[in-house]
Amino acid sequence: MRPRLDDVEAEISYLTVRALRPRTVLELGAARGWSTTWLLRALRDNATAGGDGGVLHSYDLTDAAARHVPAALAGDRWRFTPGDARRRPLPADPGFVLLDAAHTARFARWYTTAILERLPPGAAVAVHDVYHHRRPGPVGEGAVVLGWLRRRGIGHLTASSAADPDTHDRLLGLKRKLRLAAPVHAAASRNPMLFFRTPGRGCSAAPVSGYGNLRRCPDEDRPGADPERTVPLPAAHRQW
Ligand SMILES: C[S@@+](CC[C@H](N)C(=O)[O-])C[C@H]1O[C@@H](n2cnc3c(N)ncnc32)[C@H](O)[C@@H]1O
Repeated sequence: MRPRLDDVEAEISYLTVRALRPRTVLELGAARGWSTTWLLRALRDNATAGGDGGVLHSYDLTDAAARHVPAALAGDRWRFTPGDARRRPLPADPGFVLLDAAHTARFARWYTTAILERLPPGAAVAVHDVYHHRRPGPVGEGAVVLGWLRRRGIGHLTASSAADPDTHDRLLGLKRKLRLAAPVHAAASRNPMLFFRTPGRGCSAAPVSGYGNLRRCPDEDRPGADPERTVPLPAAHRQW
């Protein structure tokens, strides 16, 4: 299986699914199933921790993922749809969305309208291949997504070594301190993914006083979720 997501962005995606415990996860661009496998492991681990764990809906023009994702991991938690995602029915109300399909402005204009506009409050989104450089080019997927976020006043986070070397280096430094720095995917470390959360359900409310950049972001949708739980937010990216 040829890996595509770099380690830190894959780990943030995994941890986000573990933290938010979405019932529905949507992935556009499964390729040979690298990102798919990370998401399925998070859903499996959510189920291990109690509850049903949720379902991942993946889309790709090819059916390669169906041949590479281990059957035991897919279980009954994976729905794979081959073909153009723009012409397929999409699941309602995903709590986490990973976008890594066509990296064109046209495709991004489609998914901002068809997917991002319809997300429930507090949903988390990861968009790959935005920050290969300090800024994305003026045309293309990254520019469309950043414009969409800017118009709505939604902040974002990236661990891109090019766009936010401080966050990137701090996360790698923490992994080294934890002796977890051995790479899963050794070939790349640029982590060009962008992460954000849709406003609402307290995610854009005032910071919790006395807790620095911690911000309340309850996930009321989840049965058994602790509404007082807080998630850490980098100060520079206020709504993540
Ligand atoms: C960069 S790869 C995805 C890599 C994958 N996320 C991983 O971690 O290995 C992009 C994938 O998007 C798929 N793709 C491109 N346009 C698409 C569309 N309109 N609908 C569904 N899949 C699409 C391509 O077939 C390709 O496999």
